[in-house]
Amino acid sequence: MMPFADQIEQIVTEREPMATHTWFGLGGPAEWFARPRSMKQLSELMRHCHEQQVPVRILGLGANLLVCDDGVDGVVVRLNSPEFREVRWDPDTGEVMKGPLNRAAGEYNPTDTEAVHFDPQGSVVVTAAGGVEMAKLTLDAVRRGLTGLECMAGIPGTLGGIVRMNAGGRTGQISDVVQSITMLRPDGSLCRLSREQAGFAYRSSRLGEGVVCQVTMELRPDDPREIRERYMSLFEMKRRSQPMQEYCAGCVFKNPPQHSAGALIDKAGFKGRAVGGAWVSERHANFIVAKEGATAGDVLSLIGLIRREVADRFGVELELEIEVWGKVMAGIPA
Ligand code: EPU
Repeated sequence: MMPFADQIEQIVTEREPMATHTWFGLGGPAEWFARPRSMKQLSELMRHCHEQQVPVRILGLGANLLVCDDGVDGVVVRLNSPEFREVRWDPDTGEVMKGPLNRAAGEYNPTDTEAVHFDPQGSVVVTAAGGVEMAKLTLDAVRRGLTGLECMAGIPGTLGGIVRMNAGGRTGQISDVVQSITMLRPDGSLCRLSREQAGFAYRSSRLGEGVVCQVTMELRPDDPREIRERYMSLFEMKRRSQPMQEYCAGCVFKNPPQHSAGALIDKAGFKGRAVGGAWVSERHANFIVAKEGATAGDVLSLIGLIRREVADRFGVELELEIEVWGKVMAGIPA
């Protein structure tokens, strides 16, 4: 066991199976797995690992992540204690939309047409911790009649992970509403970055090393029924076109400039093709689905096949959108 200080030792376990923490349901163990309960514990842990040169990786919901079969060196940190899930709405105007909206199924009662009033003036600043679940935050904004997050409908993950990769879809991305980000650096210091300093681009940021601890976002009041409609239609579109119920990690590749990765992989004839238990989804070719018996190695082999074939046929180099964590990273494309 790495010599952790007493207060840190209680929050660290050894050889935690990562398959239970990722949406692929794949991957070997993390050498150490830490669940800090406070910022103080997190910053002590970060400083300790920095001094001992132990690699640290921050795990969100594991929704965009492939962990290799032989596991991960160093410490994996999970931020799910209450202090890392706090949200503040300023001003706190409360919910305006009372109709039933089923979070899991993304359904609502269309007969719910009660009159709702909204003040189009002003904005609401949301300050949320990095461990907040994006799906819940999105739905809370919809219920409050605040626009800006409904483009995140059906996108899983923690706010920290979402901000780091600038997740989003065709109608918007998280950087559209971010005002500032507070990062905990590996040496235990805190720094605040503006949206400009965060260096957001398509599915990327330049936040640098460390943990996304807090994010402030600016949302605006709008007609709550229209917000709800936008949210619901996006959710429906994703449900129709993406394998939302299966073991997968969203789109595997970024869309190359002027192309759709899904369309290219589809055109190359990959839908329904498999390596071991890893399959290219029949519903959307940019999704790899892990079926019974799949290994992370199967997923990586299929990724390699797709990249080679798409490069040969269309001259396009596909870049990974998912993150890959492993002991031996050689040969894994960026
Ligand atoms: N297409 C095919 N075959 C396929 C899949 C798509 O021909 O198997 C075609 C579609 O018909 C469409 C085009 O490719 O003409 C684009 O497809 P789609 O509308 O599904 O959008 P996408 O570019 O593949 C992006 C995001 C998704 C996001 C959707 C909707 C990326 C890499 N993907 O997908 O995000 O949900 O738009 O907003 O930017 C993710 O990032 O993990 C993700 C799922």
